[in-house]
Amino acid sequence: MTESVAFPQDRTCPYHPPTAYRPLREARPLSRVTLFDGRDVWVVTGLAAARALLGDPRLSSDRERAGFPMLSPRFAAVRDRRTALLGVDDPAHHVQRRMLVPSFTLKRTAALRPRIQETVDRLLDAMVEQGPPAELVGAFALPVPSMVICALLGVPYEDHEFFEEQSRRLLRGPTADDTMRARDRLHAYFHELIDRKRKDPGDGLLDELIARQLDEGAPGRDELVDLATILLVAGHETTANMISLGVFTLLAHPEQLAELRAEDSLMPAAVEELLRFLSIADGMVRVAVEDVEIAGTTIRAGEGVVFSTSVINRDADVYAESDALDWHRSSRQHLAFGFGIHQCLGQNLARAEMEIALRSLFARLPGLRLAVPAEEIPFKPGDTIQGMLELPVTW
Ligand code: HEM
Repeated sequence: MTESVAFPQDRTCPYHPPTAYRPLREARPLSRVTLFDGRDVWVVTGLAAARALLGDPRLSSDRERAGFPMLSPRFAAVRDRRTALLGVDDPAHHVQRRMLVPSFTLKRTAALRPRIQETVDRLLDAMVEQGPPAELVGAFALPVPSMVICALLGVPYEDHEFFEEQSRRLLRGPTADDTMRARDRLHAYFHELIDRKRKDPGDGLLDELIARQLDEGAPGRDELVDLATILLVAGHETTANMISLGVFTLLAHPEQLAELRAEDSLMPAAVEELLRFLSIADGMVRVAVEDVEIAGTTIRAGEGVVFSTSVINRDADVYAESDALDWHRSSRQHLAFGFGIHQCLGQNLARAEMEIALRSLFARLPGLRLAVPAEEIPFKPGDTIQGMLELPVTW
């Protein structure tokens, strides 16, 4: 067991785990970290142990339980607010998830591909028409998933400036108060949208849920608002970060990029490897509700458990040369989308978006490169989903 490391920390390089996590990477499968509030909690660092623990019902996602680990003051501030899906344990979680799963199957996602392609092409047309340079987060990485999740949910894209701003504040507002206000604004927005849709229904997932509510009385109104909020926020911020950080990483790895350009059939494997390598959701959180034995250690009831995906996905017992980006390794078992009952609902959609966005961007702009030195480009702090704050490019 090593000395406790502070968690989370800012990355030193946007695509590698913070160098200060080195002791965690060596202490597999379990170690200790210290949170911002001074509490010491368990951190899971090995892939096999992470799968076992994320699949174990004795670990709860209910953030109102005593001992639940809080990764930032912002996170602590919204602790007693309802969170659909992610903050709910089975059996209630299962009921919510079952309502949504049909909209996120491989088949439904495959049917969305032409629409994703059309969105990507339109945004690239606009970039080309305007001419270089461009800021790729605002021009491409954010609008692609934002437009797609709006179409899927039936949320008007005209409102994107509002909800993108509130999501940004929710995930990394300057203060805890700001985070709370952002959540309240999103909730108020959805209450109003649901009223409008009741009078004038559309064909999105939200409309289906409203119809179900009218027929069956469930989900309740507040639950519907919570579901809509998590789907909208999780549906655009995460994939936007994968696209921006994915492009930055590919530009920093010209050999791998050239290989990908030469052999398009590598793209699905490349997306999987980028998910493993970048591990943008770096810090899943649980609390033990009973004693749990793992790898000769006992996690006691009431103790907090953090999963560092950036460390887990570079487990040297599973991935040879785990710090290398390699399209030919088998990266599939990575935990970038989590594991167990909360495993990412939108993963099929995210994969399709990343694949189409990256393929089309590099095909359309073969000379794509950074417009300023890499060291000058700002990226996100360690206590939120990882990604680029801005990505100035030219071609
Ligand atoms: C590359 C992009 C994405 C990444 C890296 C990602 C990552 C994750 C992770 C790690 C979890 C599990 C969290 C935990 O167990 O504590 C999760 C859950 C979730 N994700 Fe994603 N996600 C992505 C895209 C999406 C998209 C496009 C959607 C679309 C709606 C989405 C919706 C959700 C939802 C609803 C959950 C909660 C599921 C549950 O609790 O049952 N995500 N995601």
